[in-house]
Amino acid sequence: MTHDFLDLPQILSARGTVRLPGSKSISNRVLLLAALAEGETEVRDLLASDDTERMLDALKVLGVGVSHLGGENWLIKGCAGQFPVTQAELFLGNAGTAFRPLTAALALSGGDFVLKGVARMHERPIGDLVDGLRQLGADVTYLGSEGYPPLHLKPANIVPGGSVKVHGDVSSQFLTGLLMALPLTGQAVAVEVVGALISKPYIEITLATMARFGVQVQRDGWQRFTVQAGSRYVSPGTIYVEGDASSASYFLAMGAIGGGPVRVEGVGRDSIQGDVRFAEALAKMGAKIEMGPNWMAARAPLGGLVAVDLDCNHIPDAAMTLATTALFAKGTTTLRNIASWRVKETDRIAAMATELRKLGAVVEEGDDFISVTPASLKSAAIDTYDDHRMAMCFSLAAFGTPLRINDPKCVAKTFPDYFERFAAATKAAPVIAIDGPSASGKGTVAARVATALGYAYLDSGALYRLTALAARQALVDWTDEAAVAAIAAELNVEFSGDDIRLNGELVGDAIRTEEISVGASKVAALPAVREALLFRQRAFNQAPGLIGDGRDMGSVVFPHAVLKVFLTASPEARAERRYKQLIEKGFSANLADLLSDLKQRDERDSQRSVAPLRQEADAKLLDTTHLTIEQAVNQVLVWSREALQ
Ligand code: DC
Repeated sequence: MTHDFLDLPQILSARGTVRLPGSKSISNRVLLLAALAEGETEVRDLLASDDTERMLDALKVLGVGVSHLGGENWLIKGCAGQFPVTQAELFLGNAGTAFRPLTAALALSGGDFVLKGVARMHERPIGDLVDGLRQLGADVTYLGSEGYPPLHLKPANIVPGGSVKVHGDVSSQFLTGLLMALPLTGQAVAVEVVGALISKPYIEITLATMARFGVQVQRDGWQRFTVQAGSRYVSPGTIYVEGDASSASYFLAMGAIGGGPVRVEGVGRDSIQGDVRFAEALAKMGAKIEMGPNWMAARAPLGGLVAVDLDCNHIPDAAMTLATTALFAKGTTTLRNIASWRVKETDRIAAMATELRKLGAVVEEGDDFISVTPASLKSAAIDTYDDHRMAMCFSLAAFGTPLRINDPKCVAKTFPDYFERFAAATKAAPVIAIDGPSASGKGTVAARVATALGYAYLDSGALYRLTALAARQALVDWTDEAAVAAIAAELNVEFSGDDIRLNGELVGDAIRTEEISVGASKVAALPAVREALLFRQRAFNQAPGLIGDGRDMGSVVFPHAVLKVFLTASPEARAERRYKQLIEKGFSANLADLLSDLKQRDERDSQRSVAPLRQEADAKLLDTTHLTIEQAVNQVLVWSREALQ
């Protein structure tokens, strides 16, 4: 198993302007129509993502001329309705916006094609589209389960004219696929929608994009759509892809939760994407929304967001963003009419409910609804189910708690640099990292600085000491890496003020003995132990801020610390401080022994292969050999105030 994760600190506020990547839905529609059209099309601002790559790759395999003009611009040489390659196998990953329309276009193209995807794609239904295509005479075979990809499409006699019935209640992409493919028949064909049509705004995108390529679909409400005989696609020359309205939802939500204003550019009032109506939903929650022709902005309301009870059929993708925004709205938010979530990249209702519960929210789920009641959030590692929207939605939970996002790279499906943009638009709870050797006085200094700034204090050494103590209690040898790491991962500790409890019992000085100091230094050298304690430490990165004290605060645990201090003193001065401490506490001690122990521990802490003790290039050196505690605290406070400005 790859262990890829991203740890987010608690976010304090959000503000800024984001230029959105191109819309996924529009990008893949434009690519297919440009390929089917007569003439060359220059496509500008295309989304660079997994889904569009799958479509571009497929078009190349089909012999369509595809050239990259640099940046987000592409030139597509249209094939005027006849793909040059008539036999091929296509792999379309998990890209529904490539799989469905290509199925329709290729089934009517007269060639022999096999269409495959990833395992999840083979669990996503396509039966309604295949049924529609078969009514036109298409020859489609299921290669796996009936009703699901992979598919084999063979040349067939397409029935001239007539009408096709298609169900619209599982995915609007079936209707989209059919409509875009119909001009290939050259005949007049009417499509009748049986039952309710979901996600209607996506059909608007389809019709608008077809119109840009010269095909006007006659429509009778949402029931009947007719493509005229002789319809054919003609390149519009140059076409600009709008920004992605679903991607906009995360940034608007950031503004609504985190103060704002956050402004998104690339979509606005004039957009053809239904997901711009996410802004209305956010406004219902109390957010202050402003809009121009191609921009939108959101701010938080004075009194905070309030819960909503909303039919989300018209914004199925952006509605997911409401589910995590609900963590910051007073009351219970219910999102209804979202059954389509169950057949997307993952079963999104189940996934959303499971992960929200990990954070402590109260969640109810049904076949076609989810309701979310906020609670005080706790840190958790969030699984993302190979679903880009899960990863992006859960970034919002960071306004309430530090959290871990597993497999964050799944955002590449639609928004490869999402987390960089997230970081740029938000302000994280600051960390001040104080690293240094044993007995340098950094613990005392760090704790006092934390009190002065009103910040939390993380004594990371205590975690290694607690691990050594817990291992000793469990009769586990300090060199048994796997066993000690398992203990570290399960460590049941509670920090409150100066008190530390291990398995509910006050620990007191039991972790400060020389023996446990040696044990801590030994277990701290084990990579698996450090890995197991990493997220536990990062979970301290909460509002309003944190002082982290240890050996690798600035280098590994909090590399983005606003201030890094390397606090040290000569070994002799440190041995003497330790000696005084021990005598004061009534322990017996020998200065020479202490000095040699300390040097040994320094050696082990700085020579180990993982996260060794050393001064980072960007850390400020504070040598306290000749300083009082007050002087050291004051120096760190002066630097802190500079760094926090
Ligand atoms: O700071 P301390 O003396 O309580 O630390 C106890 C041991 O834990 C010490 O030998 C070094 C190790 N440690 C570490 O490796 N990384 C940290 N961030 C903190 C402590």
